[in-house]
Amino acid sequence: MATVTPSGAALGAEIRGIDASVPLSDAGLALVLQALHTHKVVVLRDQLLQPVQQIAFCARFGSLEEHVLAQFLVPGHRELVRVSNVLDEAGKPIGLVDAGRLWHSDGAFLDKPNLYSMLYAIEIPHGADGRSLGETWFVDTAKAYGSLPRAMKQRITGLTALNSLEAVYAAMHKDKAALNRPPLTEAQRRGVVHPVVRVHPHSGQLCLYVSRAATVRILGLAEEDSRALIDELADWCVRDEMQYHHRWREGDLLIWDNCGGQHLAIGDYALPQRRLMHRATVAGIEPVGAPAHESATADAA
Ligand code: SIN
Repeated sequence: MATVTPSGAALGAEIRGIDASVPLSDAGLALVLQALHTHKVVVLRDQLLQPVQQIAFCARFGSLEEHVLAQFLVPGHRELVRVSNVLDEAGKPIGLVDAGRLWHSDGAFLDKPNLYSMLYAIEIPHGADGRSLGETWFVDTAKAYGSLPRAMKQRITGLTALNSLEAVYAAMHKDKAALNRPPLTEAQRRGVVHPVVRVHPHSGQLCLYVSRAATVRILGLAEEDSRALIDELADWCVRDEMQYHHRWREGDLLIWDNCGGQHLAIGDYALPQRRLMHRATVAGIEPVGAPAHESATADAA
């Protein structure tokens, strides 16, 4: 019998009693989805997964996306991308070294942003004191929306914003994250417009969908007002007391909800401290904005 134990922080939970290496039952899938939509990020500890097993487990949640950077895909398993600082014999990175070094939600620059991401920890870096490094931090964007003052809810309901991968790259350069990525193609540079307040496609919760990394411009506002509102909303989402910090263990399979949350990878390690993970992402749908009457009725939580 699987159980769900909340982390005790503002979000996050551990699910015990599910072995991700064997076919996931319908009841197991329902339990994980329920926990995920409630807690936004869940961990299954002590998993022993070959790529085919991770793919089979993750595919139970929807169709899996192929990452655009083909050189970092797990050989023979195009549904998995390596997130890693490990180098090959030629000294080249085998995976995304710099993934997620700014608060973001995966695929916000896509027409249909990734719904869930699933990261499996194969090697985790440790400090001299034995403590694991390279945490991933999370926030709950439904709680962020729910805790906004009523006037702000009314102001932002119905607004839309331009999001782009180009903005993410520019922000990473600014923050001096090591960009081991080829230049963007014309198609990848194209921005997409998404609602500022999104309805979660499964839970129906209203979620703030703005980040400093990907959101370029709120449409219909003057540039200065748009920048100020993006910064205010993005900072509201990631307040310290709203965070869960995931301290990794080898064998963790971490699953997060990209509509209901944002995350940040902490780069506090370097070779010879090795970090190797395999990530799958589940395709999403075109975001739907909150209906105007919601903001009129929703009180600050
Ligand atoms: C990501 O943003 O998908 C990477 C997270 C991590 O490496 O901790």
